[in-house]
Amino acid sequence: MVSSSVSLPASVTLAEGEGGLPVVRVQTSLASGELYLNGAHVTSWTPTGSQPVIWVSGSSEFAPGKAIRGGIPLCFPWFGPGREPGLAPAHGFARLALWRLVEARDDDGEVTLVLGLTQADIHGVPGAGHWPHSFSATYTVTFARDLIVALRVENTGEEMFSYEEALHTYLAVTDIRSTSVQGLAGTTYLDKVSGAVASQDGDVSFTGETDRVYNSACTAVVTGAPGRSVLVTKVNSVNTVVWNPWMAKSAAMPDFGDDEWTGMVCVETANVLDDAIDLAPGESHTMSSRYAVTD
Ligand code: BG6
Repeated sequence: MVSSSVSLPASVTLAEGEGGLPVVRVQTSLASGELYLNGAHVTSWTPTGSQPVIWVSGSSEFAPGKAIRGGIPLCFPWFGPGREPGLAPAHGFARLALWRLVEARDDDGEVTLVLGLTQADIHGVPGAGHWPHSFSATYTVTFARDLIVALRVENTGEEMFSYEEALHTYLAVTDIRSTSVQGLAGTTYLDKVSGAVASQDGDVSFTGETDRVYNSACTAVVTGAPGRSVLVTKVNSVNTVVWNPWMAKSAAMPDFGDDEWTGMVCVETANVLDDAIDLAPGESHTMSSRYAVTD
């Protein structure tokens, strides 16, 4: 039995989800959604009348201290292997930590969940030992006709720190081989597969393993299902990461079904590498992303 110290509107329930982990479920006239407190991890968002927008692997682990494969992993305070040698695990500790639900409200069917994580919450979480800085992170998720996620980080310590961040969203597509991402033409990107820097020519299409960090603050449009596009609009993010593992890499991942690579694409709202955020004591920074389904 899971209980909440926060008062919940009728559209929000706290339950035991996969693996017995606490999950917040949202059901309103506008949308349904789901968020695991482990990782403050959105695993589902379906606007009423639409197909599910968010992808989660059928082989994902659901266990304390394990990353969920799919949904919206929160990458913080580093991205991938990070910028210094020896950082682990990949993508930082935020997606492995148990976040606190601090508020749940329903404004005419738009449900907002607010979650918090500070230095005091991360003892024993893998990777926490690499982060000696006092911080307060607030993650705000609004489930409605659109999905809006915002990560605010405040430096509550006495010294400057620098961090990378990504909202690592997995979007469901019918087939990656006929999916395109528009809005990135003409921007430069780091190709993490080849190590080269290149310029995007036209829309992004997929013919093999794709792992790119684009220098783009613009809206991306993902056309990956018949008759439907997903608009990804961002605030305070200058990188868009586009990822699909393709066949061999997905087969090598134990928490990723061998044939599932055809049904997903990650389009990530991020500030990483040279675009990491520097925060002086007392400063804060908020990065957000909005997802909207269009016909
Ligand atoms: C992407 C990275 O954001 O995440 C890839 O650019 C990485 O390099 C992918 O493989 C998945 O990461 P993980 O740690 O969830 O397997």
